[in-house]
Amino acid sequence: MTSTHPPEPTLDTGKVEEFAGRLFELTTGGLLSHLVGIGHRTGLFDALAGASATSAELARRANLDERYVREWLGAMATGGIVTYDPATKAFTLPPEHAVCLRGSTSTNLAPFTLAVAHLGEHLDELIEAFRHGGGVPYERFRPRFTEIMDGMSRGLFDDQLVSGILPVVPGLPEQLGEGVRAADIGCGTGHSVNLMAAAYPASTFVGYDLAPDALARGRAEAGEAGLPNVSFTELDVVELPTEPPFDVVFAFDTIHDQAEPARVLSRVHDALAPGGVFVMMDTRAATDLADNLDNPFAPLLYSVSTLHCMTVSLARGGAGLGTVWGEQLARTMLADAGFTDVEVYDVPDDPLDAVYACRRP
Ligand SMILES: C[S@@+](CC[C@H](N)C(=O)[O-])C[C@H]1O[C@@H](n2cnc3c(N)ncnc32)[C@H](O)[C@@H]1O
Repeated sequence: MTSTHPPEPTLDTGKVEEFAGRLFELTTGGLLSHLVGIGHRTGLFDALAGASATSAELARRANLDERYVREWLGAMATGGIVTYDPATKAFTLPPEHAVCLRGSTSTNLAPFTLAVAHLGEHLDELIEAFRHGGGVPYERFRPRFTEIMDGMSRGLFDDQLVSGILPVVPGLPEQLGEGVRAADIGCGTGHSVNLMAAAYPASTFVGYDLAPDALARGRAEAGEAGLPNVSFTELDVVELPTEPPFDVVFAFDTIHDQAEPARVLSRVHDALAPGGVFVMMDTRAATDLADNLDNPFAPLLYSVSTLHCMTVSLARGGAGLGTVWGEQLARTMLADAGFTDVEVYDVPDDPLDAVYACRRP
């Protein structure tokens, strides 16, 4: 009797081992990122910066339990984040690593590690959506998302918004300086709005978002800074007011997770005065997967999309554009909304995003 089974493919055991190693690396990276997040949240990196320490010294400095600190240091040392001198049993945070793990500027990448744990909190619901469609709504991610998103964008806004990002759009700082009416749609905690309101006192700014907890933070910050030219309104931005018109509308990292992105873009177009500008900062990628295969940031973007940006849109019966909608589709959708004059610029210090400057004719 002859077998009906196809012949077993010959396995390249070297490739199996190599791939198994890669999977272990992924698992290790995921776990280590939680420990980096713990270091960020407990102040361990700050406590270690500048002076080497044994686990006991570091625990004292950070006011933490020594046994936990010692195990954490083991992970940090073997994970290549701190160095260890077996002779003195002292740990050191190299200054080059401290640049990426400390401080309030955009070079501190530690806040991004918190997103790994946060986005993993809803996997059961997400898997239900894989099976039956729909998605995990934005509300399920809050209030933690509000905090984490703020942590990821605040440093970039502080470092670059006024001095680096706005100036990439020709004439924009001058317009804002002269005094315009501006909106920031999907403003989250509104730090971008408050920074612009402080830098351009002759202009007025309204921040819109669906999230009341995020808007409350924006209002509190504006109040503390004594900014008279800023306000925050809870609104689904498909209802963005068209009268009186805005001279400038900003959208930072929000169009791709809209339930109705096409309607929002049309509404922005209609809400702008003739000659007004829509400044859309959104992810930098290509629309076609084939063009993203060599993009080192693409796995991060597709993963964040699956775990958050796409699913929050699908949860509202939305388009589910996802984080990687890409420049080609963005240009098509902007043109469909009436924006025929679109320029795309790099974002200083931020390889993940691009700025689309779209003028209303
Ligand atoms: C990825 S966060 C970006 C927040 C902020 N712009 C930043 O860069 O830190 C997207 C924000 O858009 C808001 N958002 C999403 N869809 C919205 C809608 N239809 N109307 C108003 N806000 C919306 C979310 O609540 C969230 O705060």
